[in-house]
Amino acid sequence: MKELSLHLLDVAKNSVAAGAKHVSITLDEDGDGWLTIAIADDGRGMAPEFLAQVTDPFTTTRTTRKVGLGLPLLRLTAEQTGGSLSIDSTLGVGTTLTARFQRRHLDCPPLGDLPGAVALLIQGSPDMELTYRHTTPRGEAALSTAELRDILGDDVSLAEPEVFAWIQDYLTEQENEAAVDASPAAVSEGEVQ
Ligand SMILES: Nc1ncnc2c1ncn2[C@@H]1O[C@H](COP(=O)(O)OP(=O)(O)OP(=O)(O)O)[C@@H](O)[C@H]1O
Ligand SMILES: [Mg+2]
Repeated sequence: MKELSLHLLDVAKNSVAAGAKHVSITLDEDGDGWLTIAIADDGRGMAPEFLAQVTDPFTTTRTTRKVGLGLPLLRLTAEQTGGSLSIDSTLGVGTTLTARFQRRHLDCPPLGDLPGAVALLIQGSPDMELTYRHTTPRGEAALSTAELRDILGDDVSLAEPEVFAWIQDYLTEQENEAAVDASPAAVSEGEVQ
């Protein structure tokens, strides 16, 4: 996939498909270019035998197509940057997935449209509780559906187009302020400390 935001969307959809009521998404960037993405859900979880094979493309419970590609692709992308993917899961409790990427690696895809991915996710599952937090050495972008509900009241669905647009604008402003240029070119020009 061309952008990490698309991986994020793809993996968060697994949480939705697993019946999660709460999903927490955190992105942490440190000063050395390491990005850690963690997605925790309270969905149905996976049995240990299944979990052991889940990043293998021939493991899937979907019926329309024999192979699931989301997790194997995410693992490949993380490993190509020198990072890794790890998954912790307990049947009936939930799943936590942690992926690490070296953003300064030439093969690391750009972050992409994170506000758009979060807005899409909320619009697609308006009754799910989602918390999102992206921290960088320069600041943070954060949003929670619980706060949105407090502001908007119970009568407004989070699937409304106006809410979608608002989420995008709100997060874009924060993301722009927190953004760090971690491209390899920026590093070689000494722009990243
Ligand atoms: N958060 C999760 N909770 C419970 N089961 C999960 C979770 N994430 C993945 N799985 C299980 O692992 C399988 C593989 O996931 P993966 O995303 O790689 O493929 P997929 O979702 O089946 O297909 P694709 O993502 O290519 O549409 C899923 O079919 C599902 O059974
Ligand atoms: Mg998937």
